[in-house]
Amino acid sequence: MLKPKLVLTKLAFLIAAIGLLSACSDVENTATTLSTTTAKDGSARWYTSEQLAQGKVIFSENCAACHGVDAGGVGEGVDDWKTPDANGLYPAPPINGSAHAWHHSLEVLLRTINDGGKPLGGTMPAWQGRLTDAEQLSVVAAFQDYWPDAIYARWDTIKKP
Ligand code: HEC
Repeated sequence: MLKPKLVLTKLAFLIAAIGLLSACSDVENTATTLSTTTAKDGSARWYTSEQLAQGKVIFSENCAACHGVDAGGVGEGVDDWKTPDANGLYPAPPINGSAHAWHHSLEVLLRTINDGGKPLGGTMPAWQGRLTDAEQLSVVAAFQDYWPDAIYARWDTIKKP
């Protein structure tokens, strides 16, 4: 039997996978205080410069082909990540802070990377056994580094999946 938490995670993932981005706006906490920071200050983020440097290499070698070199969701042969292919499968979404990924806690992001999308009917490969836990953490830093400060600040308030 599925744990409720897992079901919720799957639901959130499914929503992301089918691109119903607008469906998520009502779950945002409007009382959240937005960061007014405009300057990009890496020191305010959870990752170190070493993790970021390692993550960038991992990202370009393993993720960029599908998610785009700048995590913008325009991978090889893809014009529009919201348009499914002939099999009804969606291309990799942007994970640069413009789409849905920032609605997920670090725990959920890591689980997505570790398990991939196949358990949920998606196509993202699983990275378990291919990237260590530390490497998976670093690669999150790599794509989060594209997130604008205001988005990062909102994500930072999401402590639960
Ligand atoms: C073969 C293409 C492919 C590769 C390679 C790939 N992804 Fe994905 N990724 C996807 C697809 C497609 C999805 C959407 C869910 C699905 O269909 O599985 C996704 C979803 C995600 C999500 C969730 C996005 C959201 O909006 O919730 C994250 C995070 C992610 N990928 C990170 C990565 C990272 C990090 C790497 C490299 C280690 C990577 N992906 C490599 C195709 C890929």
